[in-house]
Amino acid sequence: MHTPVPDHLLDVLDQCSLDDGEVAGYIPELARVDPAQLAVALCTLDGTVHSAGDAEARFTIQSISKPFVYALALAEHGTAAVLEHVGVEPSGNAFNEISLDPLGRPRNPMINIGAITTTSLASIDPDQRWQRIHSGLSAFAGRELEVDESVYRSELEISSRNMSLAYMVKAHDRLEGDPDRVVADYVRQCALVVDVRDLAVMAMTLANQGRNPITGEEVVPAAICRQVLSVMMTCGMYDAAGDWMSNVGFPAKSGVSGCIMGALPGQVGIGVFSPRLDRFGNSVRGVRVCERLSADMGLHLMQAPEAASHVLHSLGDTPETDKDGDGVRQMQLQGSLHFAASEAALRELARIPEDDTIIEIDLDRVTAINSVGKRMLREGVRRLRLDGHEVRVLDGQQHLGGQDQ
Ligand code: DON
Repeated sequence: MHTPVPDHLLDVLDQCSLDDGEVAGYIPELARVDPAQLAVALCTLDGTVHSAGDAEARFTIQSISKPFVYALALAEHGTAAVLEHVGVEPSGNAFNEISLDPLGRPRNPMINIGAITTTSLASIDPDQRWQRIHSGLSAFAGRELEVDESVYRSELEISSRNMSLAYMVKAHDRLEGDPDRVVADYVRQCALVVDVRDLAVMAMTLANQGRNPITGEEVVPAAICRQVLSVMMTCGMYDAAGDWMSNVGFPAKSGVSGCIMGALPGQVGIGVFSPRLDRFGNSVRGVRVCERLSADMGLHLMQAPEAASHVLHSLGDTPETDKDGDGVRQMQLQGSLHFAASEAALRELARIPEDDTIIEIDLDRVTAINSVGKRMLREGVRRLRLDGHEVRVLDGQQHLGGQDQ
């Protein structure tokens, strides 16, 4: 069988093909993209990436670079020193708003004025700054990212507003180094090229306490990820942050190229791309996709998960013979079955060859299963049966309510 997660992602994309919104027009190169593109990817704790739609489409990371550069600045200077330069309060204003808090600091690192300030803090040595940003973001992605030079130059030519933000922060003594060079590095970081799979892996690295789930590298310490995810939660979607919190409920960041990245701690990293934007500068379809994923997979942070433990107790790789002489593969699941645990279990079931063995799924060690886990497990059973297997579910505690046995 194939795990149903990619099929579900395709269904979600089908249901989110809205045509509202406009592509970003203020950066000339961005106005030339195909507005119909739509893609989603999801990365799990063990580095598995599922994707659907135009997953090969590449685009510039834009404001999604901001949380990662914030992480690098925190690693370089420590939280207290960074807080001297930029606050952590939602601004309630547009992403390019010209505003400082009463202490003379940018309100947070997710709006342009705060992001330019954190770029200035990414390295103590200004000559090393770009190198550090480039290698840092590449480590989050697990591959070396490239800059789209034409997007970089195109934005640099229209950077008067970002320049004015940098000079204003410099006038308040909160920006380190030369404002022109800082803005050039900031615009360059925004022009790094990614796809939805990269975003999902980068998000999962934040959601995995700073460890890239594919390369295994610890990119930043866990405490920094907590800080970054907290600020993403409250400020990442700009002045749509309140709606986002109630409708979607996981930390996220958007970029004007039409990308959104979401990170649910300990569970999943998400990347979405579709270029048309709403009035807040967030991808219209991207927001809708995240709303659907959150609702379908139970990803809202305020929906408390049951205590999780490792789901797979055992899976016999070679079939055993039962009393009737038939080959039987037994899979024992344990602990709490929510989305992430069920996804791992389904992936194990997907490894079973299409043969005539009987599959026995033992749920007796399962302590809890939520509605998403039930749905996913039932679908796995259905698909195994379609593959021709006889499936027996040992479910003495009636986790699946007596169905599918
Ligand atoms: O500085 C800018 O305006 C762009 N390089 C990034 C803005 C952005 O992505 C806003 N997000 N939705």
